[in-house]
Amino acid sequence: MDVPVLHRLALNESPYPPLPSVRKAMRRAVAQAHRYPQFYPDDLTELIAAWCRVTPDRVVVGSGSVGVALQLLQAVVEHGDTMAYAWRTFDAYPLLAAMVGAHPVPVPLSPDGQQDLGALLAALDHRTRVVVLCNPHNPTGSLVTADDLSAFLRQVPPRVTVLLDEAYVEFARGPGLPDTPALLGAHPNLLVLRTFSKAYGLVALRVGYGLGAPDLVARIRRQQLPFGINAVATAAVRASLRADGELRLRVDTVVAERERLRHELVDLGWRVRPGHANSAWLDAPDPIDEGAAALTAAGVQARHYPGEGLRLTVGSRKANDAVLAALAGVGRHTASGRRASSAAPDGTVAAHRRPPVSGQRPDG
Ligand SMILES: Cc1ncc(COP(=O)(O)O)c(C=O)c1O
Repeated sequence: MDVPVLHRLALNESPYPPLPSVRKAMRRAVAQAHRYPQFYPDDLTELIAAWCRVTPDRVVVGSGSVGVALQLLQAVVEHGDTMAYAWRTFDAYPLLAAMVGAHPVPVPLSPDGQQDLGALLAALDHRTRVVVLCNPHNPTGSLVTADDLSAFLRQVPPRVTVLLDEAYVEFARGPGLPDTPALLGAHPNLLVLRTFSKAYGLVALRVGYGLGAPDLVARIRRQQLPFGINAVATAAVRASLRADGELRLRVDTVVAERERLRHELVDLGWRVRPGHANSAWLDAPDPIDEGAAALTAAGVQARHYPGEGLRLTVGSRKANDAVLAALAGVGRHTASGRRASSAAPDGTVAAHRRPPVSGQRPDG
């Protein structure tokens, strides 16, 4: 018998519904649904530019960050071109490559779940048109630091466009975080991709944006669908930016829950490296297939890559407790063997270890 899904933790969604002020703005926009939105999203572009402290000619808005990525590929890829990216990663990249006729060049992640920048650079040749970096990385949550990113960008030939996907950037913490808008001036081949889907919790409304050099942005905008950004989404983004402080507090809560989840999973014997997205990543040789089965039986929908890994979106406290309760039974029998290898290189796990979770806790 199918177990009903109680907790949706498979798509890296926000656990929070839109704020009341955002819902109010959306309701107002719905009342005008018989009117077209702007032909091109000029107002939204200006709003985002002011918020990002860049000029509007550096901003392109699209239907989710996936939509912006597609527009970029449509703008730059020609017959016979290739597109390189670390693999495993976000499933959409190979799909987008196929849509524009680019040959995919997947480059394996390093064993610690990092995008292998040296191997990516080595994979670039005269046919490469686009190289994708996902930072923080989906699904591992690993981070390319500011220094490594700068060194990478310096070595990418100018004819190759770097698609730097920062869908999860708001969840990244700690030293070494890149300041990517500051890199735009020096790298006219860089497009930074961001979204209102994750930290801002507007995934169903499909608004993402790219930041880049004016020439590149102008080429991408030529692929913009007229009337392509709907007015309800625009109203929701506008209201969300007004409530930025409140939304950032929600992100802080997700980050705190991510750290709790990781430390408690480590205490249960799972090997979990520090991550910078709104997710935790468990991988082989830990018993991830058994873990996936235990989660399904507990009504938790997670992202399972059979034989490879398990990506758990950080949910509400209640959802995260359900994850911990389900995985407790699986981790325990091999816990002692894994515990020794579970600490982060900086020792943070040992320093923050908490008592194992016992049963469910109220949502917080
Ligand atoms: C790395 C990455 N980029 C982009 C997206 C999609 O974002 P959007 O909803 O803005 O299209 C996702 C969604 O999971 C993602 O993981």
